[in-house]
Amino acid sequence: MTKITKICCIGAGYVGGPTMAMIAKKCPHIKVTVVDLNEQRIAAWNDADVENIPVYEPGLSAVVAEARNRNLFFSTDVEGAIDEAEMIFISVNTPTKTYGAGKGQAADLKWIELCARQIARVAKNNKIIVEKSTLPVRTASAIKDILTHTGNGSQFQILSNPEFLAEGTAVEDLDAPDRVLIGGDTTPEGRAAVQALVDVYANWIPKERILTTNVWSSELSKLTANAFLAQRVSSINSLTELCEKTEADIKEVARAIGTDSRIGPKFLKASVGFGGSCFQKDILNLVYIARSYGLQEVADYWEQVIIMNDHQKKRFANQMIRELYNTVNGKKISFLGWAFKKDTNDTRESAAIYVADHLLHEQAHIIVYDPKVLEGQIYFDLDYLATRTPEENKKGVNVVTDPYEACKGAHAIAVLTEWDEFKDYDWQRIYDSMLKPAKIFDGRNLLDAEKLRAIGFQVKAIGTNI
Ligand code: UDX
Ligand code: UDX
Ligand code: ADP
Repeated sequence: MTKITKICCIGAGYVGGPTMAMIAKKCPHIKVTVVDLNEQRIAAWNDADVENIPVYEPGLSAVVAEARNRNLFFSTDVEGAIDEAEMIFISVNTPTKTYGAGKGQAADLKWIELCARQIARVAKNNKIIVEKSTLPVRTASAIKDILTHTGNGSQFQILSNPEFLAEGTAVEDLDAPDRVLIGGDTTPEGRAAVQALVDVYANWIPKERILTTNVWSSELSKLTANAFLAQRVSSINSLTELCEKTEADIKEVARAIGTDSRIGPKFLKASVGFGGSCFQKDILNLVYIARSYGLQEVADYWEQVIIMNDHQKKRFANQMIRELYNTVNGKKISFLGWAFKKDTNDTRESAAIYVADHLLHEQAHIIVYDPKVLEGQIYFDLDYLATRTPEENKKGVNVVTDPYEACKGAHAIAVLTEWDEFKDYDWQRIYDSMLKPAKIFDGRNLLDAEKLRAIGFQVKAIGTNI
């Protein structure tokens, strides 16, 4: 039976970094080395001031501080770490393809393939390879193919161990997950590899929460879990428009349906649209796989979740324009929040990016304040869309580090992220500093609309017209 004493993780991002920090914390007898090609990122993980690690997650810096340089190491020596590890996690990015076949839908497996080839080149003995990145179904078989045909006789077992942590609650999720899922081959060697990984997690996770399946079920479960969650958000969001036309209130509807134990109360918060690196990418993957098997109805069914989400973002921007007398040209609009959700500095696929893009088309001037997102990231996100030149983005958007400054002299405020601090602002002071009528568009139903109206604000909150 393989007893794991050394783990290597390729990819020090939002998934690899926190996951490995938790394994190292809970398993002091295992040496965990996280490697990345990105020198700057590794330097940040090693920063003497642990508050400067590159991923912001509540509680993460304490976990890193406890294990770092004890049995947790961050390095750019990818080959050295591969060589000494018995178990290698692959946790590199798998963005949606931006070119060629499957453009805009399929996952780009370039980086995964490069990892597999590198492992094949370096490995001198048997290893267990663990897919940690979200991957399309059947990726494990591609990795296996590369390893067995370009390897040097070493035996590789490929496991799928999808990560279910959500950003902002990564440490809690890793500490006490609903479940850990491990997929592997059903051969004796496959079973032994699965057991080796079960033994790692069993250091802190109750055995009944560690589920084992075959590789394909595990890979498909990850895509399905994210598709179901995203579908709940699109479902509740689809009803916000109906609520705004009638006198129904989406918060009351969500509460009423959520108390049905078959439906449950979670993931029913109406919003300006879901974001994040996983939901859209995973659904697009599901759609792509279904289409590639000729399953048109299945593909169309899931694609609708994305169509509804895109509609929600556009609808929010259009509502602002309409309420601002059909023109935002030259008007100052303050964005509170840029991250795709609270308690993270991650902005991938954030609704704020698309709402800003739409308003910039209409010549608005946008001032952004986000408690954790840095200025450079905001321009990067807009430039990445390639809808206008970086100079034009710089001209149309200002980023400030003080919320009161962001709102001063504004025609309207848009709440894009549900950061708790927004609730506690001195809203009278903000009102006094704005142009009148002072308008607030609450894309997260975060603020107390009644209190704001008493001050004098005109408030539009998503999914209610009361
Ligand atoms: C439903 C609602 O559950 C109930 O709250 C409402 O008041 C009336 O409509 P009912 O139609 O009696 O009740 O049955 P339900 O148990 O909801 O099942 C509806 C259909 O869905 C059945 O054909 C059932 O076989 C099917 N179903 C249900 C599945 O195919 N899979 C499931 O997991 C659950
Ligand atoms: C998600 C999954 O939850 C996690 O299990 C998986 O491992 C990765 O993808 P994450 O993207 O970090 O995690 O965030 P999540 O909390 O799921 O939120 C995704 C998006 O949906 C956010 O933009 C959030 O604001 C939005 N959302 C979520 C809503 O609009 N309403 C809700 O009720 C819940
Ligand atoms: P995720 O959210 O999946 O963790 P990130 O983009 O945050 O995604 O992190 C992925 C990391 O993987 C990046 O830091 C990137 O530099 C790294 N990476 C990608 N390919 C390789 C590779 N072949 N070797 C080492 N690191 C890699």
